[in-house]
This record gives sequence, C-alpha cells and structure tokens, in this order.
Amino acid sequence: MTAQFPAVLPTYNRTALAFSRGEGTWLIEENGARYLDLTSGIAVNALGHAHPALVQTLTEQAQALWHVSNLYNIPAQAKLAEALVEHTFADTAFFTNSGTEAAELAIKMVRKYWYEKGEDRPTILTFEGAFHGRSTGAIAAAGSEKMTKGFGPLMPGFKVLPWGDHDALRDALDTSVAAVMIEPVQGEGGIRSLPDQDLKALRDLCDQTGALLLLDEVQCGMGRTGRLFAHEWAGIAPDIMMVAKGIGGGFPLGAVLATANAASGMTAGTHGSTYGGNPLACAVGAKVMEIITAPGFLDGVRRKAGFFRQRLESLVASHPDVFEEVRGTGLMLGLKCRVPNLDLVKAAQATHLLTVPAADNVVRLLPPLTITEDEITEAVSRLDRAAAALP
Ligand SMILES: Cc1ncc(COP(=O)(O)O)c(C=O)c1O
Repeated sequence: MTAQFPAVLPTYNRTALAFSRGEGTWLIEENGARYLDLTSGIAVNALGHAHPALVQTLTEQAQALWHVSNLYNIPAQAKLAEALVEHTFADTAFFTNSGTEAAELAIKMVRKYWYEKGEDRPTILTFEGAFHGRSTGAIAAAGSEKMTKGFGPLMPGFKVLPWGDHDALRDALDTSVAAVMIEPVQGEGGIRSLPDQDLKALRDLCDQTGALLLLDEVQCGMGRTGRLFAHEWAGIAPDIMMVAKGIGGGFPLGAVLATANAASGMTAGTHGSTYGGNPLACAVGAKVMEIITAPGFLDGVRRKAGFFRQRLESLVASHPDVFEEVRGTGLMLGLKCRVPNLDLVKAAQATHLLTVPAADNVVRLLPPLTITEDEITEAVSRLDRAAAALP
C-alpha cells in the first residue's frame, strides 16, 4: 500500500455527498437529509429510485438464477430482445453491460459489414462534442483532446467533423465512409439536439452513399425525449443503435440494436460477453421496457416535459445574468449558463437539488421520467433560489 494514494482510483472529482437510500425522485443521506434528484445517476434511473416493480422483478430473479453464461438460452434475454424488436426499427439485439461496450460492438459491426461486402470503407464519421464512452475505441471515436491526451496511439478509422457544419458533412460523406456515428441529442456535449430535418438529411446522405447510420442513444434513448428513441421524432430509422443507461433502470445493461442487413456479418464466434445479457439485467430491462411502452407512459413524459420547459423558460427570463437559454427535448434538458456552470451546480446542491454539469457551460437536468409536476415545481423553485444566491 502506498501512503496517500486513494484506495479508489481518483479519476473522478466527487462532491462530498454519500447517499444510502433512494425513493422515486429523492436521494437520502444516512443522516436523513433529502435531495431532489435531477441527475438520475446521469440518465440511468429512468423510473426513479427503488421503483417497486423493478425491486420485485430483481428480487424474484435473484432468488431464481443470477448467471449462466451465453452458452445457454436465457429466457429473460430473449424476452427483452423481442420487446426491443417489437417496439423499434431493429431486427436483432446484442446485450452488453454498458454504453461503452455497446459502442465497441457497434464499431465492430460496421467494420464487419463492409469486410463481408468486400468493400474498403476505412472511415467512420463522428462529431465534435460527442461522447461514446471511455474505451480506447470510444475515445478515438469522439476524438476530444480531453479524453484522448496521453492515451495514444489512438485506434484509427475515425474522422471527427464539426457539429452542425452541413458542408463539412457533405464533403466528407463519400464512398470511403463506412458509417456515420452520432448522438441525436449530445448529452455530455451540452444538450445539443440535432434538428429533425438534419437527421432526415443525414439519413438521405447515408442512403445515397451506402454508409450505415449508427445512432448513439445511450443517453437520449429509452423515453428520455418523450419518444421511446429520440430518432423517432425525425421519422427516420438508423441501421445500428447503441442503447444503455435507462434500459436497465439502474441495473448495468446496454444493447446494440440493428437491422438484419447491418448485423449480417456478426455470425457465431464474432463477438461475445461473459456477463452481457445476464438474467438479472435482462429481467429488469424487460420490466423497464414494459413500463415505458405501456399506454400513456410516454404521453405523460411529454406532458411533464412541456410543463418543465415552460417553467424553465420563465426561470431563464427572471435571471438573465445567470442563464442564457434552455436547451433539449423531453426530460433531457439543459440550462446554458452565463456564470460558470459548476457554480450553479454547487448553488443548487446547497438547496438540496442535484444537477449534472456538461460541456459548453451547460447544467443538465435529467430527472427520472417518473418525476411529478409538484416535484418539477419544487425543482424550479430551488433553481430560482440557487440562481438568486449567485453573486
Ligand atoms: C451518449 C453516450 N454514449 C456512450 C456512453 C458510455 O456509456 P457507459 O458509461 O455506460 O459506458 C455515454 C455515457 O455517458 C453516453 O452519454
């Protein structure tokens, strides 16, 4: 043991809070102090903390069977895959334990697709401000200096384009491009939404050149924008999609969804995961899907999102020195700040409201999709107090 080196690898700047319990939209410290949670574990606890149906599902599965490996059929895995296929563009799903692992498989799938076609397509186009995870492949894909510095040599095969630069995209998207990889709403990048018409145009450009459209819906998917997946707003479908975070409601789970065509190269032996698709994660995931796709659930998300947005617009109008604008779709909202975003996060925390910083000086508001209108009103009142407390 080396004296003074933390037992937990110090790759995070943590605040001095530790929670021992969660209830719906609330996190509770050992001493009973309650915090209103607009982080959802960074867009993970889509149904809030300790949702009774998820607790029951996980407990029942834990009493029956935890792990068997992918050498055998896993009924919960098949059930979740079938639900995803039924409710999305996809013909097939592979389960992972995280968004990063979904990114790795998605990249492999793209490469194998073109290998099988016998075409040399070395490049995947990606975008500035993107976040696809922290593996060597995912940091190379996003390409930002902050994530890649010191970790070279980087995996080749990515070309990072400026966000929102249509000409750069048109110039780069030729027949050397294997796929375009993009978040319909950038999360870590500062709640930057790709307008629907841009996503439609991107789909058209991909169709013209044959490039696959690979969407990263790890943060913006699973009901967060008020549709099951964010791309549905644009009325288009991708070829491959990465999912994680909300799909497990807090239990580690991710997935790659794909059309049969895009997945055609992934035959037996080409990919695998010891834990991916394990019974515990998939039982919970199937229950999350059942709840989010139940009639009325997403209508409720859209209604609450409209209410939240309206309140936030008034908040921004009453603190023009603190806020520049409201961003985002559904319950994936951001406050672009004029003050340093971390100052607002700290001031909000002092009112017992939890928020998440993002790039571009944005504070993210990612509540559980089950947040109530009363809790939204309370959150905005705490943000108002936090803004008023800033110098
Ligand atoms: C859009 C997006 N993609 C991928 C990831 C990586 O997911 P994970 O942290 O589960 O590996 C994240 C995580 O924040 C994300 O927001």
